[in-house]
Amino acid sequence: MSSPLIFLKPIFISVIIPVILGTVFYQLDSFDPASYPTHVLSTDPPIVAPKRNNQMLRRSEKIGVNQLLSPEDVAYDQKSGVIYTGCVDGWVKKVKVNESAADSTVEDWVFTGGRPLGLALGRHGEVIVADADKGLLLNVTSVGEIKVLTEEAEGLKFKLADAVDVAEDGIIYFSDASYKYNIEQYIYDILEGRPNGRLLSYDPSTKQTKTLLSDLYFANGVAVSPDQNYVIFCETPLRKCKKYYIKGEKKGSVDMFVDNLPGFPDNIRYDGEGHYWIAFASEKTYSWDLTLRYPFIRKIMAIMVKYVGQPKAEKNGGVLSVDLQGNPLEHYYDEDLTMVSSGIKIGDHLYCGSVKSPYILRLNLKQNPAVQTS
Ligand SMILES: *[C@@H]1O[C@H](CO)[C@@H](O)[C@H](O)[C@H]1NC(C)=O
Ligand SMILES: *[C@@H]1O[C@H](CO)[C@@H](O)[C@H](O)[C@H]1NC(C)=O
Repeated sequence: MSSPLIFLKPIFISVIIPVILGTVFYQLDSFDPASYPTHVLSTDPPIVAPKRNNQMLRRSEKIGVNQLLSPEDVAYDQKSGVIYTGCVDGWVKKVKVNESAADSTVEDWVFTGGRPLGLALGRHGEVIVADADKGLLLNVTSVGEIKVLTEEAEGLKFKLADAVDVAEDGIIYFSDASYKYNIEQYIYDILEGRPNGRLLSYDPSTKQTKTLLSDLYFANGVAVSPDQNYVIFCETPLRKCKKYYIKGEKKGSVDMFVDNLPGFPDNIRYDGEGHYWIAFASEKTYSWDLTLRYPFIRKIMAIMVKYVGQPKAEKNGGVLSVDLQGNPLEHYYDEDLTMVSSGIKIGDHLYCGSVKSPYILRLNLKQNPAVQTS
């Protein structure tokens, strides 16, 4: 007969040792998350779009498979019919789309050597690129020459230059998601729970960079409103998009644009037809609610990320369209989609970038519309 202690051994290995090690790591690790102030976290039930399509991935075509690695943002040049996107290999690529996904072509256009994230068409045929890794805002001229526009505001360098848009008067609006953590460390910024992000502007006529807003929670997507009165920006962990007024009586003030989003917003894009398209990295989940509410959970998660690796990303990434008042209209998503980072509507198609996939997704909205669900 074997000793009853033998039954204790597996318990010792599988439970007690990890608990002891976990406690030691917890005590020793210097990561020090903060509480999100209760008023900043959305607690109401998420808004629900009247029309939905939960088969987005299954219904989409893939463009540039294995040539477009983690294409975060997408920008369309109507004149040339080219889509620009920034990839994790450091290249800004030109995608010439064809009605047949397989006949679409990808060209390596310019190598920034960093991590091109947000991009937007400039006023003179150039492409403005936010390079996260280099912490730079770049002017990539129409002939593919790279010029640095700015790298800091008020003495504080950009660490995670993220999203960008250009107003009609040429002023460039962009976000630095975090002055503290770089793109590889972005998850720590969310887990830390401190507002390390900024909304910024760069005026090419004066070469001046301004901090419009600081103390933002992972300042992400940026879109200038079609009437040029305000700039919308998204704060990813808060599931909110807000308006920052750039003109008129309210100039300099902030209003809510859309709150209680059903997912964690990345880029937001205006389609020229009265709708904004907000990309979601994932849906809001109960476990994320708890994680954001309790700093000790975020500390444990940070330790796990450090020593074990990033947890599996959540499901139901996608894109939500809203009207000019921020009312939800159509929601496209899929259980198997994660880390959708941008969505732009071109004609009948929705083109989406993702920081996880090796392609751009294209969904034919005419053939696969979101439908009324009761
Ligand atoms: C699409 O690709 C086909 C085959 O390569 C080509 O014949 C056609 O001209 C392309 N269409 C466009 C709009 O580029
Ligand atoms: C980018 O460079 C081009 C070429 O010099 C210039 O025409 C354009 O105005 C520049 N854009 C910005 C925003 O500085």
